[in-house]
Amino acid sequence: LFAGIQDAPLDPIMRLFEAFNADTRPGKLNLAIGVYTDAEGKVPRLRAVQEAEKRWIEKGLPKTYRPIEGTKPFRDAVQALLFGDGAPILSQNRAATLQSVGGTGALKIGADVLAKLRPGATVAVSDPTWENHRALFTQAGFTVTEYPYFSADTGGVDYPAMRAALAALPAGSIVVLHACCHNPTGADLTAEEWADLVPFLREKGLIPFLDIAYQGFGIDLDADAAPVRLLAESGQEFFVASSFSKSFSLYGERVGALTVVASDPAMRAKVEALAKRLVRWSYSNPVTHGAAIVEIVLTDPALKADWVKELGEMRERIKEMRVRMADSLHQRHPDRGFEAIKAQKGMFSYTGLSPEEAVKLREEHEVYALETGRICVAAVNTHNIDRVLDAIDGAVKG
Ligand code: LMR
Repeated sequence: LFAGIQDAPLDPIMRLFEAFNADTRPGKLNLAIGVYTDAEGKVPRLRAVQEAEKRWIEKGLPKTYRPIEGTKPFRDAVQALLFGDGAPILSQNRAATLQSVGGTGALKIGADVLAKLRPGATVAVSDPTWENHRALFTQAGFTVTEYPYFSADTGGVDYPAMRAALAALPAGSIVVLHACCHNPTGADLTAEEWADLVPFLREKGLIPFLDIAYQGFGIDLDADAAPVRLLAESGQEFFVASSFSKSFSLYGERVGALTVVASDPAMRAKVEALAKRLVRWSYSNPVTHGAAIVEIVLTDPALKADWVKELGEMRERIKEMRVRMADSLHQRHPDRGFEAIKAQKGMFSYTGLSPEEAVKLREEHEVYALETGRICVAAVNTHNIDRVLDAIDGAVKG
């Protein structure tokens, strides 16, 4: 039965996650996976999350099934985060939100919806992109291509090249975009570039699919969602995959949401019903705990304010580490473009480390980075930064 299974590796992030867990060296440090750790190197239990969990447990509710699409307060809260309180689209009833199994689950259900509507379409992802995007859309039956994105020369986005490549896609193609905090590079489009891209996508008949897994880690919750809001205002149809793994530090709880924006309420009802059928056929109902916690936090003004504050503290801590890393590495290796780490946003940076240097970093210095050179700056803190800098220095010196 199983003999014909092709051997194929897991994607590099999960491969290194497994290798890291199996590594018995006491000084090992994981900068390969996107997990935020606090100043003490711990995955934080956010204050508002702890309070919400206490309240949830005290309620002592029975553990019955959750609605396929999640509860209404949860879905409304997700839409308010994406579109902004009081945004016109909230009352237009043309956006359907479904709770999902993390951001990956939102991408997966969204991909399955699109596979029903646009079988055989091309899906274009950024070069580079999150390791799982290509696999996920390929598994859903699409042909996946890449559009140019990152410029190693500037450490930013090569927007003209990106736009030219998108212009050449056939109408009806799906374009996967990172709303903020691009994973893996940390390089985001500017506000002006988004303002140009949104009408351009519409004009070309391209279907935007935004991945917003790091809302709040770039500039702030509102600014990071600006591309979603521009798309909503433009009146076009699009998809959004939200993740609350990072922003609520609830990784293992798998809380996310898929939002599909249709042209009118009738179309919204149709696509929502299709998405619900697809959920039913894959895992039936979403999980309760994490989403209940997120719902409690987002629907209680005091808890929400504290969450926004703590998310801001996480973001600022990462920014401090960026400045220190960029300054120190640039001073040691002025020709390697390390200063770009400072301007990059979110949890990741593309350091320009070669695969050989990343292997050396792991084998000789016990610091795990992806072999693409991606590091998770969100796992660097004042206690380990000198070690990280010396390790990168050592790996680069050869
Ligand atoms: C990452 O990019 O490291 C995270 O999004 C974790 C994952 O699932 O890959």
